[in-house]
Amino acid sequence: MFPDSQSRSAALFDRARAVQPGANTRHMITFAPYVIYAERGNGCRVTDVDGNVYIDWVNNFSTNIHGYGYPPIVEAIKAQAERMLCCILPTEAEIALSEIIVERWPGIDQVRFTNSGTEAVMVAVKAARAITGRSKIAKTEGGYHGQFDLVEASFLPTPANWGPEDRPAAPPLGHGTPQSLLDEAVIVPFNAVDATLARLEEEKDALAAVIIDPIPARLGFAPASQAYLTALRRFCTENGIVLIFDEVFCGRAGYHGAQGRLGVLPDLTALGKIIGGGLPIGAVGGTKEAMAIFDNLAGPLKMSHSGTFTGNPMSMVAGIAAMRGLTPEVFARLEAQGESLRRGLMERMAAFGLDMRANGLASMTSLQFFSEPADNYREFHNRSGDAYLDRMRRLHRDMLNEGLLMATRGLMVGSTAMTDADIDETLARAEIALQAFAQREAA
Ligand SMILES: Cc1ncc(COP(=O)(O)O)c(C=O)c1O
Repeated sequence: MFPDSQSRSAALFDRARAVQPGANTRHMITFAPYVIYAERGNGCRVTDVDGNVYIDWVNNFSTNIHGYGYPPIVEAIKAQAERMLCCILPTEAEIALSEIIVERWPGIDQVRFTNSGTEAVMVAVKAARAITGRSKIAKTEGGYHGQFDLVEASFLPTPANWGPEDRPAAPPLGHGTPQSLLDEAVIVPFNAVDATLARLEEEKDALAAVIIDPIPARLGFAPASQAYLTALRRFCTENGIVLIFDEVFCGRAGYHGAQGRLGVLPDLTALGKIIGGGLPIGAVGGTKEAMAIFDNLAGPLKMSHSGTFTGNPMSMVAGIAAMRGLTPEVFARLEAQGESLRRGLMERMAAFGLDMRANGLASMTSLQFFSEPADNYREFHNRSGDAYLDRMRRLHRDMLNEGLLMATRGLMVGSTAMTDADIDETLARAEIALQAFAQREAA
């Protein structure tokens, strides 16, 4: 049972405290009173250092779309490690992975690699500034785009600092964020067409880019509406502003990514996670016109982009193997399993009288403490209620004790390693966890 003060994980956590502040180097994955340490993974299951086995519904926040030990990825990595880990010369593998991305994402004609999703967003933002000669970046309220201070503005805002609904403020995430940086962030309300267009209109002469995650995990995978995306597309085109889609997470929405599914194309796309097959990666892709900013063969360079591990062959070959294993049929199966999971969870939530919902789309699911879908950040925040984090902590623990690993904020993403029997087993285990949770809630 978790927590267990005698467990090996608890001991490792204590040991980590001496050498890592907070006993972690990744805040988003920690939980109380200690975090569980992983030993190994196999298929869709993870074994921790105490021998407990969990069905992994986090898949390292989506990167492991084939689960653990997927043979084509393992073989590709082994073979590449024997050839070389990395080199100052490029390899054919980076062309091959670029070709796969270009073939799949309809808004991408050309690609540049990075080492993380954060870096991909950062490079896309810099490119937009270089293209337009303007400095401001508009983003949707509550949107997550990685770990740098400009795009962290208005990530997790609260009623105390979020400002007027139609004109959201840009509160910093971290202490010490320079005001001059926050002044460069224009926050618009997700899915509110008129308010967003009014705000963008005010700032249009200073705006380099509008960035949006079209199916944000933090909103429980509520997609941006067609009307919203179309309005952004039109506004950006009319005003020479670069439209950036952050598909670092939601790129797993289908064979043609989120943009293929939603039918609106950006100028630049930030990718990451699944395209690296479990190794560190990010990418910026875009139209030929937008990507020309990086073209050092076409004239004086306006936008420099490099990195010691950029295009490293290990990530490239793992990514190629991962993407080749993601055919349209495989995406269809992932989606069907996602739907079965959500349906099964909702039935059980209702059976136990829980005012909850399993929201989501394709292989992305989010457990929520309300039953009507929310389609913007404030709705999500207000309906989740003040006790959200405490309740989520209890639910997370109940799921953990039934052998289900989900993210601490109720996120569950599937992998191709899961069979229909694994979905059934997940639902049987979740039933016990949800019942325990409901009883505790009622107490
Ligand atoms: C939408 C989105 N953008 C950017 C990032 C940052 O990617 P990374 O963690 O690889 O830096 C993430 C990571 O979760 C994400 O979900």
